[in-house]
Amino acid sequence: MYLTKEQERILEGEKGEALSKMLQLIVKIGEVNGAEKLISVNSAQIAGVSYLTVGDAIFSFFDMINKDNLKVKIPSWLNPAGMDMGRYKEMGIDSLFSKKQIQIIEEYRKLGIKDTLTCTPYLVGHEPKFGEHVAWSESSAVSMANSYFGARTNREGGPSSLASALTGLTAEYGLHLPENRKPEVLIEVDAALESFADFSVLGFWFGENQGGKIPFFRGIKQLSIEKAKSLSAAMAASGSVAMYHVEHFTPEYKKIKKEDLTETIHFTEEEKKAIYERFKEQDNIDLIAIGCPHASKKEIKMIYNVVKSKQKKSDVDIMIFTSRKVLTDIETVSIVKELTKKGIKVYADTCMVVSPVTRQNYRNIITNSSKAVFYLSKNKETNVFLDTLENILRRTLR
Ligand code: F3S
Repeated sequence: MYLTKEQERILEGEKGEALSKMLQLIVKIGEVNGAEKLISVNSAQIAGVSYLTVGDAIFSFFDMINKDNLKVKIPSWLNPAGMDMGRYKEMGIDSLFSKKQIQIIEEYRKLGIKDTLTCTPYLVGHEPKFGEHVAWSESSAVSMANSYFGARTNREGGPSSLASALTGLTAEYGLHLPENRKPEVLIEVDAALESFADFSVLGFWFGENQGGKIPFFRGIKQLSIEKAKSLSAAMAASGSVAMYHVEHFTPEYKKIKKEDLTETIHFTEEEKKAIYERFKEQDNIDLIAIGCPHASKKEIKMIYNVVKSKQKKSDVDIMIFTSRKVLTDIETVSIVKELTKKGIKVYADTCMVVSPVTRQNYRNIITNSSKAVFYLSKNKETNVFLDTLENILRRTLR
């Protein structure tokens, strides 16, 4: 791989062992993937924040970095943590977990990384620009950056996105190159897609059946940012899909030539129904979990409009997960107050998957996110069901 003189000197340790190790990681990943050079990135979104997922191993990593007092070179933000940083006691987080979680965030802060603690940086003022190279690591955010915004990022791991944050570099391969952003399969969407859950089901179905490929969706009639994030998250979870195109909506769809699309598959009502059927509610629900990816202001308002004239059943908990920026937004604050009065918990900084409380305390969870179903189902003691937000709320409100 071609390296500039400066990059070579960093690798040799001129700027310390830690930065050398960070660059080595990027170069190694680049070599494995056939990159010819390194390129600059404009931002980094870093996963590997929840103590539930990173454990104590992360502290030796921080020790290594801290030796050289490194700071990030580009705007960098964190993915959700394992708890609401202001209300972890109320969530029932134990004191060891909260102590470690606070420590992890403090370590990231020392490096100059912003504690946005969200998987939706694009909803809190960090929308990537068309064509810009970034190094993001949360899988739904990666897919949104590539597909909805037309930015360019591979699906980075926590350590590699941190390495990019500290060096301002990534290896040029994969989705950074235009030739790798072409679709491989045409999906004719014959089924009606209305709710966020419908988009999530489409994504889940595609990822499960055609994982790893880039789809071109035709027949989608509208694509709001909320619908796109549902689609992105589900596809990334079930099939590691990091990019897609939607005719008339995503910014690169016009570049697609007919001859690129050699295979056509139909997504019909039958496929849609089959996924809902598979995850159909079967037991008495004890938790409704909304906000995977983190809920937008619009979603929180939508929920409020449905619940404002109704009462929550006492045997069901309702949790909405969002970013702190959305939670404290002037338009959201009063709505959240009303939701809280109704017994609905709106938490920031965390989510149903990366926080330990959902799995520890609930056995029958329903959500409108296929990604949440995918990950929560990995715990064999938890039953997880999927439905549209409207159906879920209708059944659990009086
Ligand atoms: Fe975000 Fe957690 Fe879902 S990080 S995409 S809300 S699993």
